[in-house]
Amino acid sequence: MTTGDYSGRRVVVTGCASGIGERLAAQLADRGAQVIGLDRRRPRVHVESFHPVDLSDSESIGAAATAIDGPVDALFNVAGISGTVGSAAIVGVNFVGTRELTDALLPRMPAGAAIANTGSIAGSHYQRRRDLVTGLLATTTRDGARRWCDEHADELGTGYSVSKDAVIWYTLHRSVELAERGIRMNCVCPGLTETPILADSRRARGAAFLDGIPMPLGRVAEPAEQASVLAFVNSPGASYLNGQVLWVDGGYMAGVQTGRLPNTTGAAGKADGS
Ligand SMILES: NC(=O)c1ccc[n+]([C@@H]2O[C@H](COP(=O)([O-])OP(=O)(O)OC[C@H]3O[C@@H](n4cnc5c(N)ncnc54)[C@H](O)[C@@H]3O)[C@@H](O)[C@H]2O)c1
Repeated sequence: MTTGDYSGRRVVVTGCASGIGERLAAQLADRGAQVIGLDRRRPRVHVESFHPVDLSDSESIGAAATAIDGPVDALFNVAGISGTVGSAAIVGVNFVGTRELTDALLPRMPAGAAIANTGSIAGSHYQRRRDLVTGLLATTTRDGARRWCDEHADELGTGYSVSKDAVIWYTLHRSVELAERGIRMNCVCPGLTETPILADSRRARGAAFLDGIPMPLGRVAEPAEQASVLAFVNSPGASYLNGQVLWVDGGYMAGVQTGRLPNTTGAAGKADGS
């Protein structure tokens, strides 16, 4: 098996009906994977099997996980939402949905399996918001997470940044625990990428805000450029990669960390990231 080869591996991809998840499902199939697609909409690309799921609904997640038979060698948690639907709703899909689906599938993931979560440059302040997000991570149920969002509504803005902070911290914690079972978990954090979610973000925060995010490479990413990194992260070629936050952002975070670029994403409150 070569480093990027998925021959004979059974992989689950959420968000396979659009954008990054769609490109990922296609790339994994090209590399020989048996792709099991999950989304609330049926995908246009070929998948071995498709199960509808609504990641805002615990019962739907349980039903989709049950419908998947056999082992799962790799899980890609890609589906996500942005916009103005409310912080509890966004956290409910991006963080709680990711956590519930992962918990539901872990019993059938063998040693050597890998999980890739999808964060965002909207999580660029995750270290600063550690204390805040610890409370969200400590919730154990969907209702508990919803109550936490309601109690912290003033600090959450649209909820998108905090949902991605939570996905990052969840990855860091779980990667240590799961390593004992030989399972890896990492978090890929895309920068601006040309998919339909960008339109939702523009509506939520205004075009000027998104267009004001520095782009060192002078352009947004194509979804395929995010998909290929996700595919690598869960591949045998990345077998010692665990607990990492990978900024796939054209150098934006390097600019922020060196002080060469302003950090215009992920601020708590009214304006929060992409
Ligand atoms: N595009 C960007 O600029 C960007 C930047 C940073 C992070 N991201 C992240 O990348 C991931 C993929 O987003 P994308 O850009 O491909 O967006 P997209 O809108 O093209 O795709 C998102 C997919 O998630 C699915 N989905 C949404 N809500 C769902 C639900 N409740 N249940 C099941 N499926 C649901 C949608 O049907 C869609 O197929 C998301 O987690 C997003 O937050 C995107």
